[in-house]
Amino acid sequence: MSERIIIFDTTLRDGEQSPGAALNVTEKLEIARQLEKLRVDVIEAGFPVSSPTQFEAVRRIADSVSVGVAALARAREEDIRSAWQSLRGARKPRIHTFSSTSDYHITGKFGSDRYGRSLKEKRQTVLRMSREAVAYAKTLCDDVEFSAEDAGRTDIGYLAEVIEAAIEAGATTVNIPDTTGYTLPDEYRRKIAGLKQRVSNIDRAVISVHCHNDLGLAVANSLASLEAGARQIECTVNGIGERAGNASLEEIVMALKVRGDLMKWQTGINTREIYNSSRLVSGFTGLIVQPNKAIVGANAFSHESGIHQDGMLKNRETYEIMTPEEVGVPKTRIVLGRHSGRHGLKARLNELGYTPDEEALNALYARFTDLADKKKEVYDDDLRILMGDHDRGESSGLGLEFLQVHLGTHAIPTASIRLKTEEGLIEESATGDGPVAAVFNAIERALGQKFAIESYQVRSVTSGRCALGEALLRIRVRERSFNGRGISTDVVEASARAFLMAINRMRQSGDSEKQSNKEKSTAVLSHTA
Ligand code: KIV
Ligand code: ZN
Repeated sequence: MSERIIIFDTTLRDGEQSPGAALNVTEKLEIARQLEKLRVDVIEAGFPVSSPTQFEAVRRIADSVSVGVAALARAREEDIRSAWQSLRGARKPRIHTFSSTSDYHITGKFGSDRYGRSLKEKRQTVLRMSREAVAYAKTLCDDVEFSAEDAGRTDIGYLAEVIEAAIEAGATTVNIPDTTGYTLPDEYRRKIAGLKQRVSNIDRAVISVHCHNDLGLAVANSLASLEAGARQIECTVNGIGERAGNASLEEIVMALKVRGDLMKWQTGINTREIYNSSRLVSGFTGLIVQPNKAIVGANAFSHESGIHQDGMLKNRETYEIMTPEEVGVPKTRIVLGRHSGRHGLKARLNELGYTPDEEALNALYARFTDLADKKKEVYDDDLRILMGDHDRGESSGLGLEFLQVHLGTHAIPTASIRLKTEEGLIEESATGDGPVAAVFNAIERALGQKFAIESYQVRSVTSGRCALGEALLRIRVRERSFNGRGISTDVVEASARAFLMAINRMRQSGDSEKQSNKEKSTAVLSHTA
């Protein structure tokens, strides 16, 4: 009998910490519902104390799904209380609290003398805070996870002490993160094995692993840890996350499935929902999946060379170790058209993992018929793109009401726009080096604010003369990035929409001075407990 591994999905927490990937509450809820379909065991839904949006997202997810829901909290009463308040409606709530344990982190974050003068004293402070945090969380919730941040670079003797104290205080899961993606697979395996030996009460908790991908080893490290006794893996869809990302859920799950001959562990994941989950996350975060990405990349199952194609025709297994169907890559392309009704659209969206409410469906249907008129045939990818582009500002924030661009070989590009804002309509026009620059200038002029554009790309995302153009753009405001994505058969309009979406996200994140300071301070994770 193979043993069951707990899949703890942190797409909505660590994954959302990818630059620019901020999600709104509705998007998070949609992803959480899809994660439930994927059958992850626990969804880490967010970091409630860090902002009202985070709190609300965790609360709504906790109320809506029946799988486990975790909320992150530093080792501080305020954080833990907020995590618990957001989790109240969950059927299986989990408070996830953490402290930093490596000397790098302790000397960096606990530099002040109030935590102790020497490293030894500071370590004792962290140990005490960890114990107290878990004990407090335990008074609120039975299921408590404790993480030793930067455990990958933490001295094993001290790490064992902290883990033992956390379990003694009531932690039911102890997580050993390789926060900086520094360790090698065998080294990490030995670290977990070392803890099994040194921590006297280790059998009272599940050992969890959480690997970052800075050296491209997150999945390898996670798998290696199973051999030493880890039974929970923390991961994200498409491997998104801080810097180079987290261990990728789909790679871990499929490695365990495909290599069941050598790895005797299984997950409860419904692998046929992997592809839909990947598309949904990519669409909402604006983080494109690289074509050669294992399992979910566009090329993962395509065979280019003649020799490979010939081999495949004779016997699929010549070059395929798993089938596209196993991970939910659709075999046939289902086509909708201008005569498809609202019902047909809804049914297809549900199959693709989307659950728009009545109001969203109505708005979407209008866009769908518009597109069907232009394109005649609407494929799944078009629908995914429409869904990913749902945040057009119509319902909240800024919306594009009108756009006109004048350009020509001897004309100065000039754009006129009309924006819908909370205060009413604003009209503006501006010139620029090109049509897109003119539109951006007009938008900035209308809003009276300039934005630094960190990256900007335009690509065609479906095929044919009426292909949809997608603009992806990232703005930077007070040391934070916000992604925007716009879709249209006209790339200038797509660019305008992407720009507005990024601005809307910045505004929705409550990026007032106060808010950005608060988030900055949570990023520093200075403890005051
Ligand atoms: O990488 C890390 O250490 C984390 C912890 C907060 C679990 O994300
Ligand atoms: Zn992490």
